[in-house]
Amino acid sequence: MTPLQQIPAWQALQTQRDVLARSSLRELMQADPMRFDYFSAQFEGAGAHVLLDYSKQRVDRRTMLLLDELLQARALRPAIGSLFGGAPINTTEGRAVMHMALRGEPEDHYQADGRSVMPDVLQVRERMLAFVERVRGGQWLGVTGATITDVVNIGIGGSDLGPQMMVQALEPYCSGPRVHFVSNVDGAHLTGVLKHLDAARTLFVIASKTFTTQETMANARSARAWLVERLGDAATGKHFVAVSTNGREVAAFGIDPRNMFGFWDWVGGRYSVWSSIGLPVALALGSAHFRAILAGARAMDLHFRDAPFDRNLPVLMAAVGLWNVNFQGLDALAIAPYAQNLSRFAAHLQQLDMESNGKRVQIDGQAVRYATGPLVFGEPGTNAQHAYFQWLHQGPKVVPVDFILAAQTDSGLDEQHRLLAANCFAQSEALLRGKTADEVRADLMAGGLSAAEANRLTPHRSFPGDRPSSTLLVRKLDPATLGALLALYEHKVFVQGLAWGINSFDQWGVELGKQLAAPIAESLMPGAAPGVHDPSTLGLMQHWKQLRET
Ligand code: F6P
Repeated sequence: MTPLQQIPAWQALQTQRDVLARSSLRELMQADPMRFDYFSAQFEGAGAHVLLDYSKQRVDRRTMLLLDELLQARALRPAIGSLFGGAPINTTEGRAVMHMALRGEPEDHYQADGRSVMPDVLQVRERMLAFVERVRGGQWLGVTGATITDVVNIGIGGSDLGPQMMVQALEPYCSGPRVHFVSNVDGAHLTGVLKHLDAARTLFVIASKTFTTQETMANARSARAWLVERLGDAATGKHFVAVSTNGREVAAFGIDPRNMFGFWDWVGGRYSVWSSIGLPVALALGSAHFRAILAGARAMDLHFRDAPFDRNLPVLMAAVGLWNVNFQGLDALAIAPYAQNLSRFAAHLQQLDMESNGKRVQIDGQAVRYATGPLVFGEPGTNAQHAYFQWLHQGPKVVPVDFILAAQTDSGLDEQHRLLAANCFAQSEALLRGKTADEVRADLMAGGLSAAEANRLTPHRSFPGDRPSSTLLVRKLDPATLGALLALYEHKVFVQGLAWGINSFDQWGVELGKQLAAPIAESLMPGAAPGVHDPSTLGLMQHWKQLRET
């Protein structure tokens, strides 16, 4: 395949960057009253509606055509075929990437390694949801005969972020036991949760694809000790279930295989919330809402697979992202959901995007010569406005923003929802428009300031503007919409990884730190030899030990 930078469209896009640099976003808007109609696209499916407005991005029609050409030259259409066909596209682990099957229906024919996966997926899903209804219906009882009021999910990364984000996002739909999440190996996380709980009414879900992750296993052991101390050894059978691909380790930990819900190695951790890893979501929301999440995601899968690229939301978002990262030099992306319930959405996208596309070599092992995945961060608006938005508006660097907003609310506070929407629209407008020195000076003088004082303050109070953003406007933050939104970002990440020629589905970059932590943990035992480390690490280890004793 032609190297990315030698594709004619890549070179044409560089020229295009220089052409567009001559116009501000304000000017682009003024020049084309049809800009919103042209640079927006809609998705409808499973009751969800998503509008993508990318007209506030520094693009024009030619840019979008060239980006399309670039993606076609990277064989996007056949690559989507390979993804959906179950080819082993995770080449460093020799695995297919088949998270779409997890939201599949019996009529879908997903395969991995040449074998149909749907029978297993549907069987595990039904078994899990039957368990969910037993817990929620009060038929699954703790060892003392008490019903379950609290669930503690112990997991980290993809075994925590996705389910936690979903439970928070769909809080208005929660009706089951309270669900808590413990991820950090810092004991403060577990003890902070457990101190409020009654062991007799608590169910632990140990969620780990590998069932060997240090943090999760440490928390699981401490949780078991807490339970056994209160209810005795026999209690684990009724109070511990596992979600994993590793039946052997689950059994070795002492969890009855009948209380284990499996998934498969063709599901990456950050793509696994649709599998049994979604157990805490289903416990909180119930089966019907969980199925609606899957249906929304499935509808987005079919849209991604079938829609023409110029109306295909994941492809358009990926194309705009490539443009920003590779041609505008904008290597970060702020996620600003104007939805308090999406407060963990950016955290989830951080793992999804950065663990997938934070890579510096291509699939063939050659180093990339261009930027890859952006730095992703974010907090919900309007809170974010009172934190990092100052930096977005007046800092010297430009960071594109994805705004996310729902038209309808479940809060019952419609007036406040109007204010929320107004703030969301105002922020993207302010980033686009800015406020020139002349406008600021005129305002200040109209407010009664002297010319000298107005001149002094003008540089501080003017805004450069010309800062790009996209807005995802949905009808309502309901289960199907959340499923569709998350699948949209998953597919965006896939398209970008394909364009960059990297493997979006491994995560070797997290391994070295894990390997080094084990011998350091040994060395931190009282009296243990320090081992061989650089002087800084040795100094820190020694000082830590000293501080423990004083
Ligand atoms: O952070 C690395 C990672 O492997 C993630 O990809 C994964 O989501 C997380 O650790 C947890 O892994 P596991 O589910 O195997 O405990």
